[in-house]
Amino acid sequence: MTGTDTRSSAGAGRRHAARTRPSYTVVTATHLGALTMDDLARVEHLAELADLVRPAAIRTAATLGVADHIAAGVHDTTGLARRCETRADVLDSLLRYLASLELLDRDGNGGYVLRDAAAPLLSDHPLSLREALRLDGVTGRSDTALLGLVHTVRTGEPAHVGLFGRGYWDSLNEDATHVEAIERAGLGQLVFDAELIRDAYDWSAVRSVVDVGGNTGAILTSLLRPHPHLRGTLVDLPSVARVAAGNIAGAGLEDRCEVAPGSFFDPLPAGRDVYLLSAILGDWDDEQAVRILRRCAEAAGETGKVLLADVNLEMVMRGERAARMELLLRAMMPTPVRTVEELRRLGHEAGLRVTWEGPVTPVRSLIEFSVQESRA
Ligand SMILES: C[S@@+](CC[C@H](N)C(=O)[O-])C[C@H]1O[C@@H](n2cnc3c(N)ncnc32)[C@H](O)[C@@H]1O
Repeated sequence: MTGTDTRSSAGAGRRHAARTRPSYTVVTATHLGALTMDDLARVEHLAELADLVRPAAIRTAATLGVADHIAAGVHDTTGLARRCETRADVLDSLLRYLASLELLDRDGNGGYVLRDAAAPLLSDHPLSLREALRLDGVTGRSDTALLGLVHTVRTGEPAHVGLFGRGYWDSLNEDATHVEAIERAGLGQLVFDAELIRDAYDWSAVRSVVDVGGNTGAILTSLLRPHPHLRGTLVDLPSVARVAAGNIAGAGLEDRCEVAPGSFFDPLPAGRDVYLLSAILGDWDDEQAVRILRRCAEAAGETGKVLLADVNLEMVMRGERAARMELLLRAMMPTPVRTVEELRRLGHEAGLRVTWEGPVTPVRSLIEFSVQESRA
Protein backbone atom coordinates (compact mmCIF):
# COMPACT_ATOMS: atom_id res chain seq x y z
CA MET A 1 0.00 0.00 0.00
CA THR A 2 1.38 3.44 -0.86
CA GLY A 3 1.52 6.40 1.52
CA THR A 4 -1.29 8.05 -0.41
CA ASP A 5 -3.45 4.93 -0.08
CA THR A 6 -2.85 4.84 3.63
CA ARG A 7 -3.89 8.46 4.08
CA SER A 8 -7.03 8.10 2.01
CA SER A 9 -7.98 4.92 3.89
CA ALA A 10 -7.54 6.70 7.17
CA GLY A 11 -9.71 9.53 5.88
CA ALA A 12 -12.39 7.06 4.85
CA GLY A 13 -12.03 5.48 8.28
CA ARG A 14 -12.77 8.76 10.00
CA ARG A 15 -15.85 9.31 7.86
CA HIS A 16 -17.16 5.78 8.60
CA ALA A 17 -16.23 5.96 12.25
CA ALA A 18 -18.34 9.06 12.68
CA ARG A 19 -21.44 7.10 11.67
CA THR A 20 -20.93 3.59 13.00
CA ARG A 21 -18.04 3.38 15.40
CA PRO A 22 -17.12 -0.26 15.91
CA SER A 23 -16.69 -1.43 19.46
CA TYR A 24 -13.47 -3.41 19.16
CA THR A 25 -11.10 -0.70 20.27
CA VAL A 26 -11.15 0.53 23.81
CA VAL A 27 -8.26 2.99 23.89
CA THR A 28 -7.10 4.48 27.15
CA ALA A 29 -4.47 7.17 27.78
CA THR A 30 -1.88 4.51 28.76
CA HIS A 31 -2.44 2.67 25.49
CA LEU A 32 -2.14 5.79 23.44
CA GLY A 33 1.58 6.44 24.06
CA ALA A 34 3.04 7.72 20.80
CA LEU A 35 -0.04 6.86 18.72
CA THR A 36 -1.46 9.60 16.52
CA MET A 37 -5.07 10.24 15.60
CA ASP A 38 -4.25 8.77 12.19
CA ASP A 39 -3.17 5.53 13.88
CA LEU A 40 -6.49 5.43 15.68
CA ALA A 41 -8.39 6.16 12.50
CA ARG A 42 -6.60 3.27 10.77
CA VAL A 43 -7.51 0.88 13.57
CA GLU A 44 -11.11 1.96 13.41
CA HIS A 45 -11.14 1.73 9.63
CA LEU A 46 -9.81 -1.82 9.69
CA ALA A 47 -12.22 -2.86 12.43
CA GLU A 48 -15.03 -1.35 10.36
CA LEU A 49 -13.92 -3.27 7.27
CA ALA A 50 -13.86 -6.54 9.22
CA ASP A 51 -17.15 -5.94 11.05
CA LEU A 52 -19.57 -8.86 10.56
CA VAL A 53 -22.56 -7.30 12.31
CA ARG A 54 -23.81 -5.34 9.32
CA PRO A 55 -24.08 -8.26 6.81
CA ALA A 56 -25.45 -10.54 9.53
CA ALA A 57 -28.14 -8.01 10.51
CA ILE A 58 -29.23 -7.24 6.94
CA ARG A 59 -29.38 -10.94 6.09
CA THR A 60 -31.28 -11.68 9.30
CA ALA A 61 -33.82 -9.02 8.31
CA ALA A 62 -34.11 -10.63 4.86
CA THR A 63 -34.55 -14.08 6.42
CA LEU A 64 -37.30 -12.88 8.77
CA GLY A 65 -39.08 -10.85 6.10
CA VAL A 66 -38.93 -7.69 8.22
CA ALA A 67 -39.39 -5.36 5.23
CA ASP A 68 -42.41 -7.30 3.95
CA HIS A 69 -44.10 -7.14 7.35
CA ILE A 70 -43.48 -3.40 7.70
CA ALA A 71 -44.78 -2.83 4.16
CA ALA A 72 -47.87 -4.85 5.10
CA GLY A 73 -48.60 -2.28 7.84
CA VAL A 74 -47.00 -3.77 10.95
CA HIS A 75 -44.82 -1.06 12.44
CA ASP A 76 -44.42 -1.73 16.16
CA THR A 77 -41.78 -4.06 17.59
CA THR A 78 -44.30 -6.31 19.37
CA GLY A 79 -46.37 -6.79 16.24
CA LEU A 80 -43.28 -7.38 14.12
CA ALA A 81 -41.94 -9.89 16.65
CA ARG A 82 -45.22 -11.79 16.45
CA ARG A 83 -45.13 -11.82 12.63
CA CYS A 84 -41.45 -12.72 12.47
CA GLU A 85 -41.75 -15.30 15.28
CA THR A 86 -38.89 -13.77 17.25
CA ARG A 87 -38.22 -12.36 20.69
CA ALA A 88 -39.38 -8.75 20.81
CA ASP A 89 -36.39 -7.47 22.82
CA VAL A 90 -33.74 -8.83 20.44
CA LEU A 91 -35.76 -7.88 17.39
CA ASP A 92 -35.87 -4.35 18.77
CA SER A 93 -32.04 -4.31 18.85
CA LEU A 94 -32.04 -5.43 15.23
CA LEU A 95 -34.58 -2.79 14.19
CA ARG A 96 -32.66 -0.02 15.94
CA TYR A 97 -29.45 -1.16 14.26
CA LEU A 98 -31.16 -1.21 10.85
CA ALA A 99 -32.35 2.32 11.56
CA SER A 100 -28.73 3.33 12.31
CA LEU A 101 -27.83 1.93 8.87
CA GLU A 102 -30.51 4.21 7.40
CA LEU A 103 -32.59 1.29 6.16
CA LEU A 104 -35.45 2.01 8.59
CA ASP A 105 -36.80 5.20 10.10
CA ARG A 106 -38.82 5.82 13.25
CA ASP A 107 -42.49 6.49 12.51
CA GLY A 108 -43.04 8.93 15.39
CA ASN A 109 -45.19 6.42 17.34
CA GLY A 110 -42.37 4.19 18.56
CA GLY A 111 -42.54 2.02 15.44
CA TYR A 112 -40.60 1.75 12.20
CA VAL A 113 -41.10 2.54 8.52
CA LEU A 114 -38.99 1.48 5.56
CA ARG A 115 -36.58 3.93 3.99
CA ASP A 116 -36.09 3.81 0.22
CA ALA A 117 -32.72 2.11 0.72
CA ALA A 118 -34.52 -0.95 2.16
CA ALA A 119 -36.88 -1.39 -0.83
CA PRO A 120 -34.83 -4.22 -2.43
CA LEU A 121 -35.45 -6.26 0.73
CA LEU A 122 -39.13 -6.48 -0.24
CA SER A 123 -40.13 -9.81 -1.79
CA ASP A 124 -42.14 -8.09 -4.53
CA HIS A 125 -39.47 -5.56 -5.53
CA PRO A 126 -38.68 -6.04 -9.25
CA LEU A 127 -35.01 -6.52 -8.36
CA SER A 128 -35.62 -8.07 -4.96
CA LEU A 129 -32.54 -9.20 -3.04
CA ARG A 130 -34.56 -10.92 -0.33
CA GLU A 131 -34.19 -14.47 -1.62
CA ALA A 132 -30.49 -14.01 -2.39
CA LEU A 133 -29.75 -12.58 1.05
CA ARG A 134 -31.84 -14.77 3.32
CA LEU A 135 -29.65 -17.06 5.37
CA ASP A 136 -31.94 -20.05 4.81
CA GLY A 137 -31.80 -19.60 1.03
CA VAL A 138 -29.79 -21.46 -1.57
CA THR A 139 -27.30 -18.60 -2.02
CA GLY A 140 -27.44 -17.38 1.59
CA ARG A 141 -26.28 -20.76 2.83
CA SER A 142 -23.45 -20.73 0.34
CA ASP A 143 -22.44 -17.13 1.24
CA THR A 144 -22.39 -17.98 4.93
CA ALA A 145 -19.67 -20.51 4.21
CA LEU A 146 -17.29 -17.63 3.43
CA LEU A 147 -16.44 -17.66 7.12
CA GLY A 148 -14.59 -20.88 6.27
CA LEU A 149 -12.37 -19.07 3.76
CA VAL A 150 -9.26 -19.89 5.75
CA HIS A 151 -9.83 -23.56 4.87
CA THR A 152 -9.92 -22.68 1.17
CA VAL A 153 -6.76 -20.62 1.40
CA ARG A 154 -5.00 -23.47 3.21
CA THR A 155 -6.25 -26.39 1.15
CA GLY A 156 -8.01 -25.17 -2.01
CA GLU A 157 -11.16 -26.98 -0.85
CA PRO A 158 -14.51 -25.14 -0.72
CA ALA A 159 -15.02 -22.91 2.32
CA HIS A 160 -18.21 -24.86 3.01
CA VAL A 161 -16.17 -27.95 3.82
CA GLY A 162 -14.06 -25.92 6.23
CA LEU A 163 -17.03 -24.43 8.07
CA PHE A 164 -19.61 -27.21 8.00
CA GLY A 165 -17.43 -30.29 7.49
CA ARG A 166 -19.11 -31.28 4.23
CA GLY A 167 -19.66 -29.93 0.73
CA TYR A 168 -22.39 -27.44 -0.10
CA TRP A 169 -24.48 -29.83 -2.19
CA ASP A 170 -24.35 -32.57 0.44
CA SER A 171 -25.38 -30.16 3.17
CA LEU A 172 -28.19 -28.84 0.98
CA ASN A 173 -29.49 -32.37 0.68
CA GLU A 174 -29.03 -33.46 4.26
CA ASP A 175 -30.97 -30.60 5.82
CA ALA A 176 -34.71 -30.91 5.22
CA THR A 177 -35.24 -27.15 5.66
CA HIS A 178 -33.32 -26.62 2.46
CA VAL A 179 -35.95 -28.34 0.34
CA GLU A 180 -38.09 -25.25 0.79
CA ALA A 181 -35.19 -23.08 -0.33
CA ILE A 182 -34.68 -25.21 -3.43
CA GLU A 183 -38.42 -25.04 -4.11
CA ARG A 184 -38.37 -21.26 -3.84
CA ALA A 185 -35.54 -21.22 -6.40
CA GLY A 186 -38.07 -22.79 -8.78
CA LEU A 187 -37.20 -23.98 -12.26
CA GLY A 188 -34.94 -21.01 -12.87
CA GLN A 189 -33.67 -19.62 -16.12
CA LEU A 190 -31.06 -21.09 -18.39
CA VAL A 191 -27.78 -19.47 -17.33
CA PHE A 192 -24.20 -19.32 -18.58
CA ASP A 193 -25.21 -19.85 -22.22
CA ALA A 194 -26.99 -23.14 -21.42
CA GLU A 195 -29.16 -22.47 -24.50
CA LEU A 196 -26.20 -23.85 -26.41
CA ILE A 197 -27.02 -27.34 -25.14
CA ARG A 198 -30.51 -27.09 -26.62
CA ASP A 199 -29.61 -25.23 -29.80
CA ALA A 200 -26.12 -26.32 -30.87
CA TYR A 201 -26.38 -30.09 -30.37
CA ASP A 202 -28.31 -32.28 -32.80
CA TRP A 203 -31.07 -33.85 -30.70
CA SER A 204 -33.05 -35.10 -33.71
CA ALA A 205 -31.67 -38.66 -33.57
CA VAL A 206 -31.31 -38.85 -29.78
CA ARG A 207 -34.04 -40.92 -28.10
CA SER A 208 -32.97 -40.69 -24.48
CA VAL A 209 -30.91 -38.28 -22.39
CA VAL A 210 -29.79 -38.42 -18.77
CA ASP A 211 -29.21 -35.01 -17.21
CA VAL A 212 -26.54 -35.89 -14.66
CA GLY A 213 -26.73 -33.41 -11.78
CA GLY A 214 -29.76 -31.94 -13.52
CA ASN A 215 -30.74 -29.75 -10.55
CA THR A 216 -34.39 -28.65 -10.59
CA GLY A 217 -34.94 -29.58 -14.24
CA ALA A 218 -34.55 -26.28 -16.09
CA ILE A 219 -32.24 -27.68 -18.76
CA LEU A 220 -33.99 -31.04 -19.15
CA THR A 221 -37.43 -29.47 -19.56
CA SER A 222 -35.97 -27.02 -22.10
CA LEU A 223 -34.73 -30.05 -24.10
CA LEU A 224 -37.89 -32.13 -23.81
CA ARG A 225 -40.36 -29.37 -24.71
CA PRO A 226 -39.17 -28.77 -28.32
CA HIS A 227 -38.29 -32.47 -28.90
CA PRO A 228 -41.41 -34.61 -28.40
CA HIS A 229 -39.50 -37.75 -29.43
CA LEU A 230 -36.98 -37.34 -26.60
CA ARG A 231 -37.21 -39.09 -23.22
CA GLY A 232 -35.35 -37.79 -20.18
CA THR A 233 -33.92 -38.99 -16.88
CA LEU A 234 -32.77 -36.53 -14.25
CA VAL A 235 -30.18 -37.66 -11.71
CA ASP A 236 -29.52 -35.49 -8.67
CA LEU A 237 -29.19 -35.80 -4.91
CA PRO A 238 -32.51 -36.68 -3.21
CA SER A 239 -33.76 -33.27 -2.02
CA VAL A 240 -32.98 -31.56 -5.30
CA ALA A 241 -34.40 -34.54 -7.22
CA ARG A 242 -37.65 -34.29 -5.24
CA VAL A 243 -38.06 -30.65 -6.26
CA ALA A 244 -37.14 -31.53 -9.86
CA ALA A 245 -39.86 -34.21 -9.93
CA GLY A 246 -42.43 -31.58 -8.93
CA ASN A 247 -41.20 -29.17 -11.58
CA ILE A 248 -41.24 -31.82 -14.30
CA ALA A 249 -44.79 -32.81 -13.36
CA GLY A 250 -45.73 -29.11 -13.30
CA ALA A 251 -44.38 -28.78 -16.85
CA GLY A 252 -46.58 -31.73 -17.89
CA LEU A 253 -43.54 -33.81 -18.88
CA GLU A 254 -43.73 -36.65 -16.34
CA ASP A 255 -44.78 -39.15 -19.06
CA ARG A 256 -41.47 -38.68 -20.86
CA CYS A 257 -39.22 -37.95 -17.93
CA GLU A 258 -38.20 -39.91 -14.87
CA VAL A 259 -36.26 -38.70 -11.87
CA ALA A 260 -33.58 -40.95 -10.40
CA PRO A 261 -32.40 -39.66 -7.01
CA GLY A 262 -28.80 -40.61 -6.39
CA SER A 263 -25.17 -39.61 -6.63
CA PHE A 264 -23.16 -39.30 -9.81
CA PHE A 265 -20.31 -40.96 -7.93
CA ASP A 266 -22.45 -44.15 -7.95
CA PRO A 267 -23.57 -46.17 -11.01
CA LEU A 268 -25.95 -44.19 -13.25
CA PRO A 269 -29.04 -45.46 -15.10
CA ALA A 270 -27.47 -47.38 -17.97
CA GLY A 271 -28.10 -47.68 -21.68
CA ARG A 272 -29.37 -44.19 -22.55
CA ASP A 273 -28.20 -42.36 -25.68
CA VAL A 274 -26.70 -39.21 -24.15
CA TYR A 275 -25.32 -38.44 -20.66
CA LEU A 276 -25.33 -34.68 -20.22
CA LEU A 277 -23.01 -33.05 -17.69
CA SER A 278 -23.83 -29.34 -17.52
CA ALA A 279 -21.91 -27.04 -15.15
CA ILE A 280 -20.90 -29.97 -12.96
CA LEU A 281 -17.15 -30.43 -13.08
CA GLY A 282 -16.20 -26.99 -11.64
CA ASP A 283 -17.41 -28.15 -8.23
CA TRP A 284 -14.85 -30.94 -8.23
CA ASP A 285 -11.10 -31.42 -8.49
CA ASP A 286 -9.56 -33.38 -11.36
CA GLU A 287 -9.62 -36.73 -9.60
CA GLN A 288 -13.31 -36.37 -8.69
CA ALA A 289 -14.16 -35.03 -12.16
CA VAL A 290 -12.62 -38.13 -13.76
CA ARG A 291 -14.65 -40.34 -11.41
CA ILE A 292 -17.88 -38.60 -12.51
CA LEU A 293 -16.91 -38.91 -16.17
CA ARG A 294 -16.14 -42.62 -15.67
CA ARG A 295 -19.61 -43.17 -14.19
CA CYS A 296 -21.08 -41.55 -17.32
CA ALA A 297 -18.80 -43.61 -19.58
CA GLU A 298 -19.71 -46.92 -17.97
CA ALA A 299 -23.45 -46.13 -18.16
CA ALA A 300 -23.15 -44.93 -21.78
CA GLY A 301 -21.39 -48.15 -22.82
CA GLU A 302 -20.34 -48.68 -26.42
CA THR A 303 -23.27 -46.94 -28.01
CA GLY A 304 -24.00 -43.94 -25.79
CA LYS A 305 -22.41 -40.50 -25.73
CA VAL A 306 -21.24 -38.25 -22.92
CA LEU A 307 -22.06 -34.61 -23.65
CA LEU A 308 -19.88 -32.33 -21.54
CA ALA A 309 -21.36 -28.82 -21.42
CA ASP A 310 -18.91 -27.32 -19.01
CA VAL A 311 -18.74 -23.77 -17.69
CA ASN A 312 -15.53 -21.74 -17.55
CA LEU A 313 -15.81 -18.75 -15.21
CA GLU A 314 -12.58 -17.01 -16.21
CA MET A 315 -14.52 -14.14 -17.78
CA VAL A 316 -16.49 -13.62 -14.56
CA MET A 317 -13.20 -13.09 -12.75
CA ARG A 318 -12.20 -10.17 -14.96
CA GLY A 319 -13.12 -6.54 -14.53
CA GLU A 320 -13.02 -4.01 -11.76
CA ARG A 321 -13.76 -6.32 -8.85
CA ALA A 322 -11.90 -9.28 -10.31
CA ALA A 323 -9.91 -10.14 -7.21
CA ARG A 324 -13.05 -10.17 -5.05
CA MET A 325 -14.86 -12.39 -7.55
CA GLU A 326 -11.91 -14.74 -7.88
CA LEU A 327 -11.72 -15.17 -4.11
CA LEU A 328 -15.48 -15.70 -3.88
CA LEU A 329 -15.49 -18.34 -6.63
CA ARG A 330 -12.48 -20.12 -5.22
CA ALA A 331 -14.25 -20.28 -1.86
CA MET A 332 -17.28 -21.83 -3.55
CA MET A 333 -15.75 -24.26 -6.02
CA PRO A 334 -12.33 -25.85 -6.45
CA THR A 335 -12.09 -25.43 -10.22
CA PRO A 336 -13.98 -22.41 -11.60
CA VAL A 337 -11.76 -22.37 -14.70
CA ARG A 338 -10.95 -25.28 -17.02
CA THR A 339 -9.89 -24.90 -20.63
CA VAL A 340 -11.33 -27.06 -23.41
CA GLU A 341 -7.93 -28.74 -23.63
CA GLU A 342 -8.09 -29.64 -19.93
CA LEU A 343 -11.62 -31.01 -20.37
CA ARG A 344 -10.48 -33.19 -23.28
CA ARG A 345 -7.67 -34.52 -21.09
CA LEU A 346 -10.08 -35.36 -18.24
CA GLY A 347 -12.31 -37.18 -20.74
CA HIS A 348 -9.32 -39.12 -22.01
CA GLU A 349 -8.36 -40.13 -18.46
CA ALA A 350 -11.91 -41.40 -17.96
CA GLY A 351 -11.59 -43.66 -21.01
CA LEU A 352 -13.44 -41.34 -23.40
CA ARG A 353 -12.54 -39.98 -26.84
CA VAL A 354 -13.85 -36.78 -28.43
CA THR A 355 -16.38 -37.45 -31.23
CA TRP A 356 -17.71 -33.90 -31.72
CA GLU A 357 -17.05 -30.38 -30.48
CA GLY A 358 -19.61 -27.59 -30.54
CA PRO A 359 -19.21 -23.84 -30.38
CA VAL A 360 -17.27 -22.36 -27.48
CA THR A 361 -18.59 -19.16 -25.89
CA PRO A 362 -16.72 -17.13 -23.27
CA VAL A 363 -18.39 -19.22 -20.54
CA ARG A 364 -19.51 -22.52 -22.08
CA SER A 365 -18.11 -25.30 -24.23
CA LEU A 366 -19.75 -28.40 -25.69
CA ILE A 367 -17.75 -31.61 -26.14
CA GLU A 368 -19.26 -34.95 -27.12
CA PHE A 369 -17.32 -38.05 -26.07
CA SER A 370 -17.69 -41.76 -26.79
CA VAL A 371 -16.10 -44.61 -24.91
CA GLN A 372 -12.61 -45.38 -26.22
CA GLU A 373 -12.76 -48.56 -28.27
CA SER A 374 -10.06 -50.40 -26.32
CA ARG A 375 -12.06 -49.93 -23.10
CA ALA A 376 -15.54 -50.52 -24.50
C1 LIG B 1 -23.81 -26.23 -10.39
S1 LIG B 1 -25.25 -27.21 -10.30
C2 LIG B 1 -25.52 -27.52 -12.03
C3 LIG B 1 -26.95 -27.81 -12.29
C4 LIG B 1 -27.34 -28.02 -13.75
N1 LIG B 1 -26.69 -29.17 -14.34
C5 LIG B 1 -27.10 -26.79 -14.57
O1 LIG B 1 -26.35 -26.82 -15.53
O2 LIG B 1 -27.69 -25.74 -14.25
C6 LIG B 1 -24.61 -28.75 -9.70
C7 LIG B 1 -25.67 -29.81 -9.49
O3 LIG B 1 -25.02 -31.02 -9.12
C8 LIG B 1 -25.80 -31.65 -8.12
N2 LIG B 1 -24.95 -32.55 -7.37
C9 LIG B 1 -23.98 -32.24 -6.49
N3 LIG B 1 -23.41 -33.35 -6.02
C10 LIG B 1 -24.04 -34.39 -6.61
C11 LIG B 1 -23.89 -35.80 -6.55
N4 LIG B 1 -22.96 -36.36 -5.77
N5 LIG B 1 -24.69 -36.56 -7.30
C12 LIG B 1 -25.64 -36.01 -8.10
N6 LIG B 1 -25.82 -34.68 -8.21
C13 LIG B 1 -25.04 -33.88 -7.47
C14 LIG B 1 -26.33 -30.50 -7.30
O4 LIG B 1 -27.42 -30.87 -6.49
C15 LIG B 1 -26.67 -29.50 -8.39
O5 LIG B 1 -27.96 -29.69 -8.85
